[in-house]
Amino acid sequence: MSEPALARGLRTALLCLAITGLTGCQPAPRAPRAMSGADWAYPFSPPAPNPPAPLDKVTRLRVEGSDVTYTAPELRNLFAAPDWRPQDHPAMPPVVAGGRRPEVMACGYCHLPSGDGRPENAALAGLPRDYIVEQMRDFRSGARHSSIAGRGPTMAMAKLGKAATDADIAAAADYFSTLTHRSFTRVVESDQVPRTVTKGWLYSRDPGGGSEPIGARIIEIPEDFARFEKRDPATSYVAYVPTGAIARGAALARTWGGGKQACGLCHGSGFKGVGPAPPLAGRSPTYIVRQLNDFRTGARSGPGGAVMKAVVASMLNEDMIALAAFMGSREP
Ligand code: HEC
Ligand code: HEC
Repeated sequence: MSEPALARGLRTALLCLAITGLTGCQPAPRAPRAMSGADWAYPFSPPAPNPPAPLDKVTRLRVEGSDVTYTAPELRNLFAAPDWRPQDHPAMPPVVAGGRRPEVMACGYCHLPSGDGRPENAALAGLPRDYIVEQMRDFRSGARHSSIAGRGPTMAMAKLGKAATDADIAAAADYFSTLTHRSFTRVVESDQVPRTVTKGWLYSRDPGGGSEPIGARIIEIPEDFARFEKRDPATSYVAYVPTGAIARGAALARTWGGGKQACGLCHGSGFKGVGPAPPLAGRSPTYIVRQLNDFRTGARSGPGGAVMKAVVASMLNEDMIALAAFMGSREP
């Protein structure tokens, strides 16, 4: 094993331990490395301190515009989705609100009770019911994992996907498919981006400040990391994309594959999803890049994704960035 691979393996093991409540996570199946240069789309959290820093069990935390309060340990409980804004969504079925011990963690913990998700996971609100069921089958069979070993949230999803029963899946799919997705992400074109660190499996503003060239990347960051950490569904994000990416993405979406693979042909007018093709409009741009890259590397190889395999075959990092910038900037 080469030096960097060894370092990655070790880091992976540490990260595995670092995710609260995710004991016993297994290394993700080995997949071919991303060949498109899209590694930047899979930010890693640094390992948590060992032993973990003690949590304040007393202070009741709040977020703006909600009367609900939680303590820090309550916000780390993967079997109880924090619900800051209960008036914003229908009653959650038990698997969404609390999961099913010991292995199925609450869907609403990661994907949020609103189903709007966060950049390191996925928006489920408004996805077609059959599509949700099919993706859960792919996680169960192992046909869907991450292109990059050790990525905590995706490994957790893959693991709980194996343990979720048909009844769990049906209840969750019924719930999320009836919600309306709202985007909290502004897509902003810029040559320069704030300097960032990786925390919580995404980029966040470097407390030391400064800026740097964006390069061939999308830098998606929460506007207020403390609010993100409290899992407030109203947390807003900025996705910085290279100058000109949105217009370039619009053109590529129209002309991909000489027009024969134009995204709208399958994903529908306004890219709001139709039939087996899920909506793309207003989804997290970095999520979109990871999925395109995962189809490329084979980390997403379920039967429903066969058509996408052909679509991404010749896709470069720059193309994914442009398409994701464009899709992310559309109204959901
Ligand atoms: C520990 C966090 C976590 C929990 C808990 C969780 N998920 Fe996920 N989920 C993720 C991540 C991360 C992804 C994105 C995986 C990827 O990048 O391929 C995801 C993706 C998905 C997708 C694919 C979405 C798409 O657009 O293709 C579905 C469907 C899904 N989850 C359903 C569920 C259901 C149902 C539950 C509860 C039974 C659940 N998830 C619980 C983290 C989680
Ligand atoms: C021939 C039909 C077809 C075309 C053309 C097509 N798609 Fe897809 N796309 C699909 C289907 C079907 C799926 C669902 C795959 C699955 O079931 O895993 C999908 C899934 C996706 C996903 C994953 C979404 C999620 O929720 O995880 C992304 C991202 C995506 N497509 C982007 C694109 C882009 C960008 C284009 C244009 C360059 C495009 N697609 C063109 C049919 C198509």
